[in-house]
Amino acid sequence: MYRETLAALLLSTGAFAVPHPATASVKCPIVFDGRVPVGTAATFFDSSNALFNPDYVKGNDLKWSDILKLPAGESSRFDGAAYQPVEVTLSDKSIFQQQKGFRRAGLQFIQDSSTGSGTTGIKTLHFSVKQDAARPLNLTHEYLNVWHETADYSADQIMFQTGQIIGKSASDKNNFKILDRSGKSLYSIAMDKTSWQNFAITLNYSKNQVQIYYSVGQAPLKSVAGPTSADLSGQGQFQIGILKKPTGTSDVVNSGYQESKLNEGQIYGGLFLEDSANGCVSL
Ligand SMILES: *[C@@H]1O[C@H](CO)[C@@H](O)[C@H](O)[C@H]1NC(C)=O
Ligand SMILES: *[C@@H]1O[C@H](CO)[C@@H](O)[C@H](O)[C@H]1NC(C)=O
Repeated sequence: MYRETLAALLLSTGAFAVPHPATASVKCPIVFDGRVPVGTAATFFDSSNALFNPDYVKGNDLKWSDILKLPAGESSRFDGAAYQPVEVTLSDKSIFQQQKGFRRAGLQFIQDSSTGSGTTGIKTLHFSVKQDAARPLNLTHEYLNVWHETADYSADQIMFQTGQIIGKSASDKNNFKILDRSGKSLYSIAMDKTSWQNFAITLNYSKNQVQIYYSVGQAPLKSVAGPTSADLSGQGQFQIGILKKPTGTSDVVNSGYQESKLNEGQIYGGLFLEDSANGCVSL
């Protein structure tokens, strides 16, 4: 009897409603919200929607519902019970425009414009990443996984990357790296194959400074680098997804080697940009 009563009590209090541990609250004003509500179908992203641009940046012959998966499993720190992870995948069809060297699929916040509020003041980009054992990245290649590209497409002010950076040592290929526009490493940490890894990057556009925050699993974010100087000029937009560079070429956009039958993915959660005026950062 006791056992039944206990079970009923646990059920009624939601104690079995895993996997949604304590939610961290967002405490600063949200500028762009890319958190995906629980129950969202992949087809939601195919046409105009409140979260991401339905048209960019993806393979010419693909719809977002071909690219995005909505995996089950523990949600990330800032997603909690209301929002769920979203996975961006790559296949042989992930060819954007005529960029035959790259395989890419990148989400853009729907409100993000190349001269808009994501490019001024002090803003903090939050993202959590998790690996899909069934769709591992091939870290012999260079990947961009989150970045901010200038309005004229000539540079990326900030790049969250993994794999072997072309022209650099392979010794840190298993690390995530945050690089500035010149390729200088601002922070580097080993990729965790099982846990959520949570990152926040404060972009101080007023002063060209960057500060980086990090935690694993459900732990609060801690400052791990900065504030450090970085040239954030040039406005532009964020991209959240995968850009996989080829090997064996100096013309990475157009040529080089990509293996076929690609089936790779990266899981994202807790995607949002917050206003960090007055030093506000959700931890
Ligand atoms: C990883 O990439 C390298 C370089 O393109 C390639 O030689 C190798 O076959 C790839 N490995 C897998 C498992 O796809
Ligand atoms: C932005 O940079 C200015 C000048 O260094 C500094 O006073 C301010 O605290 C910075 N703000 C944030 C949130 O990093």
